[in-house]
Amino acid sequence: MSVCLRPAVPSDLPALGRVAYTTGFFGDSAACYFPDQRLFALLWVWPYLHGGGGPGCRVAEDERGQLLGYVLGASQPGRYRAALAQAAALGLLASVGGEVRRPLACGGHLLRLGHFAGPHASEEVYPAHLHLNLLPAARGLGLGRTLLTAHLEALRAAEVPGVQLSTTAENVAALRLYRRCGFEVLARQQTDLWQPWLGRPTEQLTLGLRL
Ligand SMILES: CC(C)(COP(=O)(O)OP(=O)(O)OC[C@H]1O[C@@H](n2cnc3c(N)ncnc32)[C@H](O)[C@@H]1OP(=O)(O)O)[C@@H](O)C(=O)NCCC(=O)NCCS
Repeated sequence: MSVCLRPAVPSDLPALGRVAYTTGFFGDSAACYFPDQRLFALLWVWPYLHGGGGPGCRVAEDERGQLLGYVLGASQPGRYRAALAQAAALGLLASVGGEVRRPLACGGHLLRLGHFAGPHASEEVYPAHLHLNLLPAARGLGLGRTLLTAHLEALRAAEVPGVQLSTTAENVAALRLYRRCGFEVLARQQTDLWQPWLGRPTEQLTLGLRL
């Protein structure tokens, strides 16, 4: 497969949202816990494309221009939160306007996320955060490492002092990749957030890298 990386742009939203949704449950579809793909894309992708994103947000495409995966991140927490608040307002309007599939189920999951909020590291030391996701067919080929390395280089070039991310003990490939790239575990916490769909508690991990 021939793959090219390029910066993420706002018109990538539908394709990025599709990858985020298709991979949003430990690499499988988020449909089991979040019924509306467009709202998912709005909350989990839109902020990085509309003012909240930092340096090094990239997509990976195949030779036909099909999006295979991405690395998205923010380096200024305040700007990211402002963009997320805007996305939440747009999502609320869409829900009220009847454009969201099963809005109560989506809202219930968002409340659950708040209730089971995972640990975070200091924003002074690690102001940036990132998300890295590939479609199943693009995994295990070194693309995750290529995207992550390019992103970290962009953060270093922008003199961002550190980056943190959240994952779980279930994300075995991701953990291996992050550790290989120098990330260390900063916090861990047992959680029942995914219990209804996973059938067991899992461990949420916060990883960090000083740049
Ligand atoms: C995590 C992910 C981005 C890794 O990207 P990738 O292209 O598949 O990984 P790479 O081919 O670059 O390999 C990176 C490392 O992970 C290891 N790895 C890859 N797939 C693995 C698997 N299924 N199990 C264990 N290790 C695995 C590789 O061996 C390599 O380690 P090494 O250098 O020690 O050999 C990708 O698998 C993915 O999108 N997974 C689903 C979504 C996800 O978990 N995202 C992260 C959320 S925090």
